[in-house]
Formats: sequence, C-alpha cells, structure tokens
Amino acid sequence: MKFVRFIMKNAALASAPKHIEHFSKFSPSPLSMKQFIDFGSINACEKTSFVFLRQELPVRLSNIMKEINLLPDKLLTTPSVQMVQRWYCQSLMEILDFLDTNPDDHRVLAEFVDALVTIRNRHNDVVPTMAQGIIEYKEVFPQDVVTNQNIQYFLDRFYMSRISIRMLINQHTLVFDGTTNPVHPNTIGSIDPQCNVGDVVQDAFHSAKMLCDQYYLRSPDLVLQEMNHKTKSHPISIVYVPSHLYHMLFELFKNAMRATIETHENSNSLPPIKVMVSLGGEDMSIKVSDRGGGVPFRKIENLFSYMYSTAPAPQISDHSSTPLAGFGYGLPISRLYAKYFQGDLQLYSMEGFGTDAVIYLKALSTDSIERLPVYNKTALKNYKVCQEADDWCVPSKEPLDLRKYKVA
Ligand SMILES: Nc1ncnc2c1ncn2[C@@H]1O[C@H](COP(=O)(O)OP(=O)(O)O)[C@@H](O)[C@H]1O
Ligand SMILES: [Mg+2]
Repeated sequence: MKFVRFIMKNAALASAPKHIEHFSKFSPSPLSMKQFIDFGSINACEKTSFVFLRQELPVRLSNIMKEINLLPDKLLTTPSVQMVQRWYCQSLMEILDFLDTNPDDHRVLAEFVDALVTIRNRHNDVVPTMAQGIIEYKEVFPQDVVTNQNIQYFLDRFYMSRISIRMLINQHTLVFDGTTNPVHPNTIGSIDPQCNVGDVVQDAFHSAKMLCDQYYLRSPDLVLQEMNHKTKSHPISIVYVPSHLYHMLFELFKNAMRATIETHENSNSLPPIKVMVSLGGEDMSIKVSDRGGGVPFRKIENLFSYMYSTAPAPQISDHSSTPLAGFGYGLPISRLYAKYFQGDLQLYSMEGFGTDAVIYLKALSTDSIERLPVYNKTALKNYKVCQEADDWCVPSKEPLDLRKYKVA
C-alpha cells in the first residue's frame, strides 16, 4: 500500500510541469487591504474563499516556479535549491487535488484548511534554505556582476511571492478556524484594522533590547515621538498587519543597536535611538535614527543585497538563539514587507555620524494593495541581460600624463 502511494505521489509530481505551464499563464490577482478585511468580516464566506484560493494559490505558485527555473544552472542544482523546488511542486499538487471537489461539502473545506496548514509548515524554512543555497554557490563559483543582479532580482520577487502566499494562507486559516484571537479580538486574520503603531514600535524595541542586553550587556534607550497630521492628540493607527510592521522594526532596531554599541564601545553612555512616527494624508512614515557611525554612501545599495553581510553567517541548525545579525537578510526582507502593501524602506546615512532608516507605508487602506511579481516577457528579459560595456567611463587609477599633449 505504502509503495502504491509512493508511486502515485511520484506520478503526480511528474505531471507538475504541465500544471505549472497552465497556471503561470494567469496573472496573480492582487488584493487590497479593504478586500482582505471585507473577505474576513462582513462578507466572510469560507466557500468563496476556498474557490478563490484553489485557483489563486496555484497561479501565484506557478508564476514564481517559472522564474526558479531561470536561475543560473549552478545555483539551481544546489541541494538546497532543489529541495525548495520540490516543496513548491508538492504544495502545488496538494492544492490542485481540490480542483474537482465540492465546495458545499464541509469535509472538503475542513480538509482544505488542513492542507494549507501542512503547506505553510512545509515552507517555514524556505528563506534559510535558499540562503544556504546561495552560500553553497558563493563558495564554489566566483561572483560576477550579472549573476549577482539576477539573483537579487529573483530573490526579491521570490520572497515577495512567498510573503503574499503566506498572507493568503494565514487569512484563510485564521478567519475560518472558528475562534477569535484572545489577545487582539478585533483582528481580522492577521490584519489589525486599528494597528497602534506606537505600541508595535515599543514591542519591537523591547525585544531587540533584550537580545542586545544578552550580547553586549547594555543597550541604548528609545525616544519615541508621534506627529498626527489629522487628529493632533490621538495615537497613530493604521489598517495593517502588525506582525509585518513588527518584523521590519525589530530588524531596524537590531541594526541600530549593534551600530550604536560598536561605535560607542569606549564610552560610558549610549546615545538613544530616536523614532518619529508621522501620519499624513497619504503616507504613514516611521523614522528610526541612530548615532551608530553610519555607512559610507557607496555601500548603501550593498546592504540590501542578498549576497552581502558583514556579520559571519549563523549556523543553519542553531535554533537555540536568535542572532543579533545574521544572513544579512534583515534589510532586504524588511524592505519587501514594506513594499508588499505599496510602501518602501530607505536608508539615509551620514558616515561618521549615524543612520536614519525610514519605513513608508500607505496611510489609507484603499491604497494598500498587494504588490505581486508576474511572470511575463519583461520578467524573462530581466534574466537574459548579459554583461555589456558600461556606458559611463571607468576612471583610470593612474593620473593622465598631460605631457603627451604639450605642444612642442
Ligand atoms: N543602522 C545601521 N548603522 C550602521 N550599519 C548598518 C545599519 N543597519 C545596517 N547596517 C549594516 O548593514 C548590514 C546588513 O544589515 P542586515 O540586512 O540587517 O543584515 P545583518 O544585520 O544580518 O548583517 C549590517 O551587517 C551592517 O553592516
Ligand atoms: Mg540586521
């Protein structure tokens, strides 16, 4: 029996490319924050959500699976990337099993929730596994600019797709499991319609501070200010996913603390980390300012690169402690979270002084719409760029010998 199941599973996986081909022809359908909220409250209907997801999840999975195949062969064939690819195939096939099932059958709906939970768990370690693949690749092959660019382009899209797929899965499983969140009863799935930004800042700061105290036996303080353009006295709140906001702030605080402590090693006092939260008509912005010595302008772009980190890579099997710095994925992934609902994350640094990191989010839930990669000709073209001569002069290291030009 076990053997028959094994054969059947492999036969199903073998047909995956055909399904990927089919579903990648559809464009993903981005949802707005308002749609997520409606879907999860007034119009909550498990059947509708099920029918939508059994189409939309295969579309999102297939669109990004087409791009995995475009990675450089040497990266694609690393054991880690192979494993990630298998997870994606398997999850795709598990969702496709629901295509001809009856949405009116309660058992089907319950099985679908179980399947989503299994898939979510299967994909828990996608980021470190992919990072491991990159490390394996970097160790063996010399890096070139074009491959680095391709990998950067791919990983930004791949992780963005992953964030969106997990968002869909979380909403469905949380909204339809029949319970309310005991700590935050007003949340709709993972969305808080009144996410208090100051509270999330405090939470994230507190967690980073504990880590920092563990490592360095001291930590800087927080100075938090809010500017509410609309209602002057009220605390600022937006419709948002608190866990996403927390993730971004936690990463920014860890970086700010590490920089502050390492630049003020020999001083008795530490300059505080200052946070300004500001709500305007269009943007809700959060600025995290440190006096951690800053970063040279030339290097800022590198900080968002998946191929670059100044900290030594942590052991992948070491789950016992969260490192203060890791794969160097803190900034790039945080920027993806910000961009996911049409925001952004930028660094403004002054070398010799400190760094301002600014998170820009949309103030209005109608503007917060998923930003999703789509596989098409333009995307394909981005993988096909080859190394051409630069169209800006390369400055020579040697000063120009002007004697040659002297008129005799
Ligand atoms: N506020 C900051 N001040 C100085 N350097 C910073 C700051 N934030 C980030 N960096 C630099 O950017 C690098 C990348 O940051 P990050 O993406 O969070 O990865 P990691 O912290 O794991 O190295 C850090 O290693 C650090 O050198
Ligand atoms: Mg970091």
